[in-house]
Amino acid sequence: MSLRFCNSHSLYHLLLVLVIFCSISAIYAKANEDATIRTMEAFSGYPIHESNSFVTNLASSLSVDTETLQKRIDELSTFSDTPAPSVTRVLYTENDVLARRIGNEAVLAPVATGSHIDAIPYSGKYDGVVGVLGAIEAINVLKRSGFKPRRSLEVIMFTSEEPTRYGISCLGSRLLAGIESLAKDLTSTVDGQNISFLDAARSAGYAKEHNDLSSVFLKKGSYSAFVELHIEQGPILEEEGTSIGIVTAIAAPASIKVDFEGNGGHAGAVLMPNRNDAGLAASELALAVEKHVLESGSIDTVGTVGILELHPGAINSIPSKSHLEIDTRDIDEKRRNSVIEKIRQSAIIIAKNRGVTLSEFKIVNQDPPALSEKSIIEAVEAASKELNLTHKLMISRAYHDSLFMARVSPMGMIFIPCFKGYSHKPEEYASGHDMENGVKVLALTLAKLSLQ
Ligand code: GLV
Ligand code: MN
Ligand code: MN
Repeated sequence: MSLRFCNSHSLYHLLLVLVIFCSISAIYAKANEDATIRTMEAFSGYPIHESNSFVTNLASSLSVDTETLQKRIDELSTFSDTPAPSVTRVLYTENDVLARRIGNEAVLAPVATGSHIDAIPYSGKYDGVVGVLGAIEAINVLKRSGFKPRRSLEVIMFTSEEPTRYGISCLGSRLLAGIESLAKDLTSTVDGQNISFLDAARSAGYAKEHNDLSSVFLKKGSYSAFVELHIEQGPILEEEGTSIGIVTAIAAPASIKVDFEGNGGHAGAVLMPNRNDAGLAASELALAVEKHVLESGSIDTVGTVGILELHPGAINSIPSKSHLEIDTRDIDEKRRNSVIEKIRQSAIIIAKNRGVTLSEFKIVNQDPPALSEKSIIEAVEAASKELNLTHKLMISRAYHDSLFMARVSPMGMIFIPCFKGYSHKPEEYASGHDMENGVKVLALTLAKLSLQ
């Protein structure tokens, strides 16, 4: 579902893309333009009008409405399946669908900035959200300043950046980037409750009558640039007192699913030498993940077992099945791949030694890193300088939709500090001041890129 807003002379365009089921024909349909523009005006509070004068000293004329931005972040955080201050907003659940509807009214006109609003279980309210609501505010900032872009500006709200529901991250941006295998696999993918992705999308109001997800693939060159604003999700900026992080590269993420199967049995009656405990195999593999990651010798290599499930899950029953999901990342793809291979070898050896079956070792995704585009790095640097904001070049250890947008567009990212680097937990926090800085840098960067 998507909306496009443009006035008849194309000075300002806004597109809010709910990425997966965007209907290209709907985007270009002219019939609703007037009504849509009214919606946009109503949301933003700023009439869309034409003006041919470009503001010369833009940096000093940018004013961010942080109070409204914070109000919107707080409001969006109430669309949650868990109590405040945590946010749980999983793809196509009722709260996710209701939260997207907010966006339907919240539209303006860019070529490529945005992020996601879905949230992993017991998460916080800033991850992704700052890059969506902050992008909308950045457009308002530019409009207030009187700036008129030459290129259209577009805000994208990506579908399911988080892998919570269907086990794969960045569904929207991967599809936009044209990943054929995903477009095919997703038509038969089901969640933990056996609800297919397409059924979930349909019941959320996003499915079309056809199942061809390749219809959303973007052609290379569809965007002249894509810039994502995001909280750092790490402690560096706050610790150093630096206002802006300019991302040069995004680390290469991979995720793996592993299943072990043993005989199970009675926790009292089966003697220790006679057991083949699938739970212990999983525990041993979890420790092996840590060992292989540490052996890499680089601080940039990380590995996490975030899901470990035992069946039947009774205190007095030896686990007959275990399921692990392993996340491993590195800025160096080869090094990350060698860790994956060592994990695979360990899984095989552990299964053999413990007499259990390794029934699955599936690499769900094994993505390469992405590099930011030099011209976008330079635009963010110039914007930070003009705004007198301290800034530094840094890598992103978290992945983002930008990782995949980089395949079809020049890409860049702007980080702002967050409290103690906390993220993916309710304590996640970014100050109004830091968000204001981020929004200004984004606005000025978009302004520069829109004139290139
Ligand atoms: C994004 O949410 C990540 O896990 O890096
Ligand atoms: Mn996240
Ligand atoms: Mn995020």
